[in-house]
Amino acid sequence: MNITLRQLKVFETVAQRLSFTQAAKELFLTQPAVSMQVKQLEEQLGVPLFEQLGKRVFLTKAGQEVYDYSRAINQQLAEMETVLNRLKGVTGGKLNISVASTANYFIPTLLAVFNRRYSNIEISLDVTNRETLLQHLSKNTADLVIMGQPPTELDVEAGAFMDNPLVIVAPPDHPLATQKHIPLKWLQDEVFLVREQGSGTRIAMERFFNEKGIHIKTGMEVGSNEAIKQSVQAGLGFGLLSRDTLEQELSLKRLAILDVAEFPIMRHWYVVHRRGKRLPPVAQAFKKFVLQEAGNLLRSGRANKEQQNKKGGLRRPEQK
Ligand code: PGA
Repeated sequence: MNITLRQLKVFETVAQRLSFTQAAKELFLTQPAVSMQVKQLEEQLGVPLFEQLGKRVFLTKAGQEVYDYSRAINQQLAEMETVLNRLKGVTGGKLNISVASTANYFIPTLLAVFNRRYSNIEISLDVTNRETLLQHLSKNTADLVIMGQPPTELDVEAGAFMDNPLVIVAPPDHPLATQKHIPLKWLQDEVFLVREQGSGTRIAMERFFNEKGIHIKTGMEVGSNEAIKQSVQAGLGFGLLSRDTLEQELSLKRLAILDVAEFPIMRHWYVVHRRGKRLPPVAQAFKKFVLQEAGNLLRSGRANKEQQNKKGGLRRPEQK
């Protein structure tokens, strides 16, 4: 038997999602590349791991066994890494990171896991908008930056680790909230609340509507994702936000995502630093952790929460 860790990783992602398309998206691979890895693994093992009934993909009995072993192997590898990190001396030092305001909705989860894994590290977290992140990169004042689209005007190394869908939100009682397949042109002349100048979300939104030739009315300029959400709930206009910022409002049914053609706008999250920068060991370790584990870790969190929401979600606080 001559199987590779890469094949197991691809198999495990397909098995978790029960979808080759989803797995390909998560792994930043094409669907044929994913199918090929799984096929090679099946050939090596001499058993089919998946079966397709209609449009749905299921694990075979053998597939379920391989999935259990694959998870155990990955767990062992993570433990081995922890032990080696201790031996290599990544036990102290300061992690100096700056993240886009929007990334702050998931960064604490990552930092908590990372912090548990490495003893005695100190973390300095700066949360700011894209414009300030670009300054940090150009002045070399942060080890690592977590941002949407990396800059082209600076010489940086950037690695994508997770998708970042931007969606349009409205109050749940808005007439469009229950409408399916809303044509983009219906948004013509609608009022949109916008983030402050320098926000990556705002830049992506303006570029999108410009490219599509859709004229929207710019309503209030609002300096944070939280304030946009409050203002949309208050009926001041639509908002265009990262899906990652909306977990609470969706589960409490305080906001609804509109089903608009060509949405979501698909961006990605990147971990970025100046090319050639000598990263301290703790920053190197964090970069590796983000690139190798963050996507899976956060996506399984997202999936669990979506599951909870479908089952009824959090209850609204009682009205007095
Ligand atoms: P922002 O950045 O928080 O500055 O809008 C997010 C992004 O670049 O996608």
